[in-house]
Amino acid sequence: MNIWIIHGPNLNFLGTREPEIYGTQTLETINEQIKTYINEQRHICTIFQSNSEGQLIDKIQEAYQADVDGIVINPAAYTHYSYAIHDALKAVAIPTIEVHLSAIHTRESFRHISVIAPACIGQISGFGSKGYILAIQALENHLAERTD
Ligand code: DQA
Repeated sequence: MNIWIIHGPNLNFLGTREPEIYGTQTLETINEQIKTYINEQRHICTIFQSNSEGQLIDKIQEAYQADVDGIVINPAAYTHYSYAIHDALKAVAIPTIEVHLSAIHTRESFRHISVIAPACIGQISGFGSKGYILAIQALENHLAERTD
C-alpha cells in the first residue's frame, strides 16, 4: 500500500509544545515509528508537514495524481474549521483517517467539532503517537475488505 501521512500546523513543535497534552516525543521520533511500521508491513509512505492550509491542500491533490491508496491526516487546528481541507479530501476521494494525539472530545468545546471527519472513513483520537499506527492498520483493514 502507498500511504501518505499528512501533519498539520504546529505539529513540527511536538516535544516542545504543551508536553502535558501532547507528550515529549518530537515529530521526527513519531515519523521514525511510522516508517518502522510501514517498512515492517512492506508498505510505502510519504510523510509531509505544513503549517499552511494551502500547502496541505496541494499535498492532498498531489496524492490523487500519485494514485495513493490511503491518507492518514492530523489536520491539527484546521480540523475545527477548514472546509477547504474537507473539500480537498472529498474531491480526491482517497480513503482517509483523521488522527489526533489528544482526546479532542475531552478538551475545550471548540475542539469537539471536526469539519474534516465527514470527509474521512474514521477518526482516531486520544492514543498519542500510537494513533498513527492504529490509523494505518484501520486503512489496511478497510482496503482489504473493499470490494470495488
Ligand atoms: C490535535 C488537536 C487539535 O485540536 C490541535 O489544534 C492540534 C493537535 C491533536 O493531535 O491532538 O494542533 O490535532
